[in-house]
Amino acid sequence: QPLTGDESFLEATWRFIRNPVEGFGPLAYRQPIVTAKTFGQTLHVISDPVGMTDVLVRHADKFTKTAIDARILGPATKEGLLSVHGEQWKRQRKAVAPIFRKRHVESLAPLITDALSDFTARLDQRSRLDLSRAMADLTFDVLAKALLGGPKGLDRTRLKRATRAVVTGAGTLRPDDLLPWPRWVPRPMTPTGSGALRRLKRAADDLLAERAQNPDDDLVGLLIGADTLSPRERRDNLIGFFIAGHETTALTLTWALYLLGRHRPTAERVRNEVRQVCGTGDVRFDQLADLPFTQAIIDETMRLYPPAPLLNREPREVVNVLGRTLEPGHAVLLNNYVMHRTERLWDQPLLFDPDRFLRDPSLKAKGAPYMPFGAGPRICVGAAFATMEALMVLATLARDFDIRVDDNVYPRPLMTVTLRPEGGVPARLERVVE
Ligand code: HEM
Repeated sequence: QPLTGDESFLEATWRFIRNPVEGFGPLAYRQPIVTAKTFGQTLHVISDPVGMTDVLVRHADKFTKTAIDARILGPATKEGLLSVHGEQWKRQRKAVAPIFRKRHVESLAPLITDALSDFTARLDQRSRLDLSRAMADLTFDVLAKALLGGPKGLDRTRLKRATRAVVTGAGTLRPDDLLPWPRWVPRPMTPTGSGALRRLKRAADDLLAERAQNPDDDLVGLLIGADTLSPRERRDNLIGFFIAGHETTALTLTWALYLLGRHRPTAERVRNEVRQVCGTGDVRFDQLADLPFTQAIIDETMRLYPPAPLLNREPREVVNVLGRTLEPGHAVLLNNYVMHRTERLWDQPLLFDPDRFLRDPSLKAKGAPYMPFGAGPRICVGAAFATMEALMVLATLARDFDIRVDDNVYPRPLMTVTLRPEGGVPARLERVVE
């Protein structure tokens, strides 16, 4: 069965390598599961809530994250929650759970307010920016405050520089990492040997050592105190949280601000909602539930631009999903991007229509064709934190700033593990003066 309908195999493969989210052609939009053989490797592309639920929830224990995941994230966070399996995963998820519990997450809201007010003060000095870089900067600072906390004067700059270099650096993560090449194919550009990665590991090790003298009840304190974790696991988790936890939220905010910049009446509606609920003061955690339209902007943004557009799995045993036989050695790609955009499952899927989430709350229920945070036991551990942060930041920026995206900027979503706007989003954020 061809992956792409009318294209030749070579054309389809090239398109897939260039930008995996565009490489699924019409068939993936029409069918819940598409199976293809590339270079002798069987690949199943699933873009359907029943199939995704089968893999992520119902048969979760019959799948592992794939060699593809290990290749991309492995060098940076091989022994961390993102990459490990089985008993090791269970032990780690339990060890870090307290930091992501609802009550603890809520207590972090004032740190977001702090980081935001530094950020908006800088905006007042210089309103021109690239939204993707600015949001990555902001979300990194938020995460550093939330996860590292600890004594003043702690040097977070090294960690920030090294994390950003690993996440965005040339040759770090490449689209063709997603191709199921055999494991022996040399990968000169993978981050294993890169200087950026070595610097990141050293920065994380030093930070853990420094903090071991002065433990606290933040994430680092928790990692240091978790005697069920080895030193390597502690370091890889610290790195894993920074890698998984800042760019994803930053991209949600980048795309959301871009959409508001392009839909001015919608931006005005958000501004009015936030003014009504929060006045002109700081946006507080207890007000977030009263911002349904702002929340719908975030939901609709993650539908159109899911920060984690493709999840990877490999069957451990033979499993039947959507009438297909999935076997060990096969690659399974769970395609959020296509599932969120197919006419098979959505009404006018390419329309930016945040109200759809208000009209039909079941779009966010279990089993809906909407899984930006994944599903099942390995659902994003940071989802509550990310949602709170995205809402607080978007509400504040949309209320206080006029978002003007440069003319003729319509960035293509490009998948490099996360879904980035190709070429960035040059914009101007001017404070609203009434
Ligand atoms: C897992 C998305 C923010 C840490 C995941 C998964 C998705 C996801 C889809 C599941 C991957 C899979 O099943 O293969 C997102 C999105 C975010 C976000 C869209 C922001 C909008 C965060 C934040 C943190 C975080 C803020 C940490 C501070 C993690 C970790 C895992 C994970 C550690 C692995 C969990 C496990 O395997 O048990 N995320 N994430 N994420 N995420 Fe997030």
